[in-house]
Amino acid sequence: MGANLGLAGRTVLITGGASGIGRECALALAREGAAVAIADANEQGATETVCEIAALGARAVVASFDVRSPTATETAIEAIERDLGLLDGLITAAGISRPAPATELAAESWEAVIGVNLSGTFYSCQAAGRRMVARGRGAIVTIGSVSSLGGQSGRAHYCASKAGVVGLTRDLAVEWGSHGVRVNCIGPSATDTPMIRRGIPESFVSGVMEDRTPLGRLAQPSEVASVCLFLLSDLASYVNGALIMADGGVSAGFFTRGHGRDFSSKALLAQGIYSE
Ligand SMILES: NC(=O)c1ccc[n+]([C@@H]2O[C@H](COP(=O)([O-])OP(=O)(O)OC[C@H]3O[C@@H](n4cnc5c(N)ncnc54)[C@H](O)[C@@H]3O)[C@@H](O)[C@H]2O)c1
Repeated sequence: MGANLGLAGRTVLITGGASGIGRECALALAREGAAVAIADANEQGATETVCEIAALGARAVVASFDVRSPTATETAIEAIERDLGLLDGLITAAGISRPAPATELAAESWEAVIGVNLSGTFYSCQAAGRRMVARGRGAIVTIGSVSSLGGQSGRAHYCASKAGVVGLTRDLAVEWGSHGVRVNCIGPSATDTPMIRRGIPESFVSGVMEDRTPLGRLAQPSEVASVCLFLLSDLASYVNGALIMADGGVSAGFFTRGHGRDFSSKALLAQGIYSE
């Protein structure tokens, strides 16, 4: 990243570290000299991330568990602290999307998305946070979304879970701040990860998502990871309970098309669509 974040020697757990944003956070932390635990339901992907990190000369372990289980989470964190060191940081990047219209959304999908994105985030924060609170230090970064702020068709469960993550983050920041534990949330918009490429047609990505983004492109996972690392670091020592959007300006406006150039377009003025 270039800046000295002071993360060398810290121990950080990343849920969802086998893929996408979580994986990028893990690699970026390893490059900073942190020891990382990769927690993911996808054991093979987690092992691949750990091998990449080992090749960088950093310490890493795989913790394969389902974040929906508080018992499995507790057991895994106990083992991580024994094998890698006491946790200084946590990033909760495990998440799923499963789009479906609200009228047809199966209860199983609702439970799964709320279970992973919201309950899973809480269980990870609780198991790591109770240790951090007892020691009087730690930093946690949760992953929200632009869907924390607004709706999107076919995402009733996802939007509810991501709004919930912001509420959870604010609560934990208030409960744990006086114990030296900071809790913040980052809100990415569309980020070029397997989650996006798997579930969304290319025509929607370029025709709608990129078009509605003032910066005119998807985020790279490394651009989300760099904000996560900042929030974990002592550079953010007075940032607590914040929702920091890494969304290319998506949530800065409404009715935005053409990367935000629609209203200022002389062509639109010439067509009489807007008057000066
Ligand atoms: N990609 C985007 O556009 C985008 C935008 C905003 C927010 N987000 C959020 O960022 C986070 C990471 O998303 P991503 O795009 O990197 O997705 P991804 O699919 O690339 O990675 C998610 C990881 O979570 C793991 N996971 C899923 N369910 C799990 C469970 N029950 N237990 C443990 N691990 C589990 C998966 O195996 C996967 O490795 C998610 O919370 C997502 O909602 C993503």
